[in-house]
Amino acid sequence: MNKMKRITVLTGAGISAESGIPTFRDSGGLWEGYDINRVATPEAWEQDPELVLDFYNKRRDGVRKAHPNKAHDALVELEENYDVTIITQNIDDLHERAGSSKVVHLHGEIMKARSCVDENLLYDLGEKDIQLGEKCEHGSQLRPHVVWFGEAVPMIETAAAIISTADIVMVTGTSMVVYPAAGLINLAPAGSVKFLIDPKVPEISYIANLEIIQAKATEGVPKVVRKLLES
Ligand code: OAD
Repeated sequence: MNKMKRITVLTGAGISAESGIPTFRDSGGLWEGYDINRVATPEAWEQDPELVLDFYNKRRDGVRKAHPNKAHDALVELEENYDVTIITQNIDDLHERAGSSKVVHLHGEIMKARSCVDENLLYDLGEKDIQLGEKCEHGSQLRPHVVWFGEAVPMIETAAAIISTADIVMVTGTSMVVYPAAGLINLAPAGSVKFLIDPKVPEISYIANLEIIQAKATEGVPKVVRKLLES
């Protein structure tokens, strides 16, 4: 029996852009309108938790209104012939809602709340938001289950182990500037075939065996998926 080839897909904000969720660093991106230090750091949480909660409650509302697009859908089809793992920097749940079965979230999941005293104590938010005063079962304030600037990235070891055994790597919708996520590509086996799909090609063109597809995710990802399914 043929063992399925392993594909690791690295995704970032750009894959959800065409679903209506803004990226961070494109013009009009999220970080253009917000000061990271006031909404996405442990210090911000200490100083003004209400502002931080409000920021993520608004983001969560945007995620609920969004739907997976053709790029998310194409990655689900890829599972017909490949062992696919998606490693995403996105905190939205569009890969899961599309139907992808293996998704690793490096920067957390906005649809979950987390205890401040036990990082493994998670709550699915469903239709709810997080308000100041809402506590976990140990009595500490709930926070969004997201990784803030200055915090460790607990899933990075898992992600490193996955990409280091990939036969094929696909990268789409990330500017590859935020570490440690951006360093993962260097752990892909030297002989692995790599595809980069982005309308504005980030600075990873020095990588060996890299095929660059300068296109939006909804065009480029289905194209690469078709090619892989037909090969
Ligand atoms: P960025 O906003 O830094 O980069 C978005 C990338 O998507 C860029 O390379 C764009 O060219 C590309 N892009 C834009 N539209 C696209 C489309 N329709 N199809 C495909 N690509 C498109 O977003 P990330 O790299 O995901 O972290 O940002 C990484 C991290 O920085 C985020 O996870 C977040 C942020 O600060 C935290 O909050 C911890």
